[in-house]
Amino acid sequence: MAFSFGKLFEGMKGTEGSVVGIDIGTSSIKVVQLRASRGVAVLETYGEIALGPYAQVAIGKTVKIPPEKIAEALVDLIKEANVTAHQASVSIPFSSSLLTIVDLPKVDAESLKRIVPIEARKYIPVPVSDVVLDWFVVPEATEEASAFDVVDDSKKAKKPKGQEVLLVAIHNDILRAYQTVSANSGLTVDFYEIEVFSAIRATIDHGIAPLLMVDLGASTSKMYIVERGIVRLTHIVTAGGQHMTETLANTMSWEFEKAERVKRERGLIDSTAYSRTENDDIKTALLSTLTRIFSEVNRVLLSYGERSNKNVARVILTGGGASLPGLVDVARTSLSAEVVIANPFTHTEAPAFLDDVLKQIGPGFAVSVGLALRKLKHS
Ligand SMILES: Nc1ncnc2c1ncn2[C@@H]1O[C@H](COP(=O)(O)OP(=O)(O)OP(=O)(O)O)[C@@H](O)[C@H]1O
Ligand SMILES: [Mg+2]
Repeated sequence: MAFSFGKLFEGMKGTEGSVVGIDIGTSSIKVVQLRASRGVAVLETYGEIALGPYAQVAIGKTVKIPPEKIAEALVDLIKEANVTAHQASVSIPFSSSLLTIVDLPKVDAESLKRIVPIEARKYIPVPVSDVVLDWFVVPEATEEASAFDVVDDSKKAKKPKGQEVLLVAIHNDILRAYQTVSANSGLTVDFYEIEVFSAIRATIDHGIAPLLMVDLGASTSKMYIVERGIVRLTHIVTAGGQHMTETLANTMSWEFEKAERVKRERGLIDSTAYSRTENDDIKTALLSTLTRIFSEVNRVLLSYGERSNKNVARVILTGGGASLPGLVDVARTSLSAEVVIANPFTHTEAPAFLDDVLKQIGPGFAVSVGLALRKLKHS
């Protein structure tokens, strides 16, 4: 039901100065506990617990459960992973939030306070009183162009004089639900952060060239174009790991549980456990979902490239789905950009014997690592 390596770190941990990042996904909760030591982020423990069993469904399935049930799973995970930190940071699902860049007239901060909530009505599909609103003025681009930039001065000159503002809205419902989760699990939440910002912190090093981050989750695949550290464009596809397992289960006439296990263990790699036809059938089933997702990825690459006149040269894959064995080769042949599988644990210090396992599970922990890193930087 859960895996954790908390015991490995026993005796090395304290509660002072330790922070825990919590990513509540639709299929599982992920936690990462870090501590700052001599300027590095020391990995103290981490763990994951599937939510399926809390809704009487299989591991790997996505669930819709009340906050009290989420808290129950979180308490179990904290125990199993031996999390000792009391200060937590929690991610807000991208699906419960809205991120968009809006062009506004160049006015001072005080006037923005008045203008933004009025402007926000055009973009937010629910009453503004139902959301928490925040914004951030996008710094103007400097002249330093990266190797990938294709600067088109004729377009630049025509741009109206104004300012770009990144508008961020979080639905009140999710904040209320998470307050119940934290109250029921005995954790103090220092801050909530939309998952995209956490994942960026944990996986993207400084650089100005635009890149595309793809979070292959269980229920959805999320795409974020990030340029100069700023989210310029987002896109969500309602296909993810669960769909992949379902297709495999249907194709092979297997139970969901078996399909989930086979997907994680061998993925797109041939196995001697199956005949040649079976191997081919497994690959074809898994690829049918992937092909759909990757064609959307290429569409986003192309449309942002055209819109901004820049080449998006790199794709970073995160989320549990990015751990699919054999994925990188398929991604490299299908996507029109360089492909990298995220390993957020490179930002943390851990015993060397864990390197392989952390690399393997890394993509799924991008959000939780990013949350913990932010908390460490602030304390
Ligand atoms: N080794 C693996 N190979 C292939 N798929 C995997 C592997 N490990 C996990 N997954 C898949 O990744 C998905 C879970 O990823 P993740 O934990 O990022 O999702 P989530 O955060 O719960 O979902 P969402 O972000 O959509 O709410 C599941 O569909 C699971 O089957
Ligand atoms: Mg997720």
